Amino acid sequence: MTSRELNDFLTQTAPGTPMGRLLRRYWIPALLATELPEPDCPPVRVKLLSERLIAFRDSAGRVGLMDEFCAHRGVSLWFGRNEEGGLRCPYHGWKFDVSGQCIEVPSEPGFCRKVKLKSYPCVEFGDVIWAYLGPRELEPPWPGFEWALVPATHRFVSKRTQECNHLQAMEGGIDSAHVSFLHRHDLRSDSLHVSKGAELTRGTEVRFEVIETEGGMVIGVRRPAGPGELYWRITQWIMPFHTMIPPYGDNALNGHAFVPIDDENCMSWCFTHHPTRPLTEHELKVMRNGGGIHVNLIPGTFRPAVNKDNDYMMDRAAQKANQTYCGVKGIAMQDAAIQESMGPIQDRSKENLTSTDNGVIMARVRLRKAALAAAEGKPVDGLDPATHAVRSASIVLPASVSFHDAAGDALKVRAGVEHTSV
Ligand code: FES
Ligand SMILES: [Fe+2]
Repeated sequence: MTSRELNDFLTQTAPGTPMGRLLRRYWIPALLATELPEPDCPPVRVKLLSERLIAFRDSAGRVGLMDEFCAHRGVSLWFGRNEEGGLRCPYHGWKFDVSGQCIEVPSEPGFCRKVKLKSYPCVEFGDVIWAYLGPRELEPPWPGFEWALVPATHRFVSKRTQECNHLQAMEGGIDSAHVSFLHRHDLRSDSLHVSKGAELTRGTEVRFEVIETEGGMVIGVRRPAGPGELYWRITQWIMPFHTMIPPYGDNALNGHAFVPIDDENCMSWCFTHHPTRPLTEHELKVMRNGGGIHVNLIPGTFRPAVNKDNDYMMDRAAQKANQTYCGVKGIAMQDAAIQESMGPIQDRSKENLTSTDNGVIMARVRLRKAALAAAEGKPVDGLDPATHAVRSASIVLPASVSFHDAAGDALKVRAGVEHTSV
């Protein structure tokens, strides 16, 4: 594969592409549960991996996710009437249930049995509606991420659209070397980040160590701490698009899932949870106001209020005064702005990688291997919920020890035990 072919291979996820086939083997966060708040509520358009779909909750509370367009003559079912156990197309009254089965063709009773829309199974937990777009016989068990399994009071979930390929966004989540630059000043100003660790993270002398795990990899990034000591920030990456950000001080854990909408847009899911306590009013207020890893959205949409069309509200004075490093306000929007600036699909044939890109390099290798395995019908990594039961950590260790051995238990989910964080 030339580097250009590899770029296409890694970034294209429409039906029939190798990466698309791989991603369709996993449960995918599709909607916030609150987008379908009650039985017979309005249907919602969902685009996943270049497929245009419609989601709705029927009279019995069941969730359906199916082809957006009516099987009769292709009207968008977003206009549909959600009534009495199905979604009815307003053009000629054909009606579909949550499995996509047509249950009524008013003009020709009986005809409906032969008509079925493409539909996908959904499960609902962790404030998220997850969808499975792959072959039915290969449907994996439900995901086992800690954020999704803690009580609802311990968790805050948001999502935002990002105007670039999902791989580009995910690579930002893996590359924790950028934190000492791009987010440098926010580590002191964002109340959900301030900590001793945040101060150490401002150190720019970084070394990377990447260790492959069953479900993905752990990336240890070390910076000098006290004499004979190193401060380790340990990120988890879990196949195919989940990342867990190393924590700061007493703050909660943060993570992302970067889900392709199509090849030039993705949904950045943002998960904050605390393993052992409810999130505080202060934390919730900050996050609802676009703090921490969350952002303010244009009401009624998932598009950030600060976006490409307003030049991300670039503030050169704040940049000069060291209030922000790049002139964009807020950690999440800094990531989004920087990654969108690389173009909708970064041309990786032109990049020059260094040792701090080792995590990014390894993720590409793993994804490529897994996509080739999936194409041959072989097993793929990261389907076992046990491989999701991991945590990120931040920890100070003697300079002489291996971070992976020494951090050991800190990288596992332990019920009732807090995460390890400096
Ligand atoms: S197009 Fe939907 S019922 Fe005719
Ligand atoms: Fe970032």
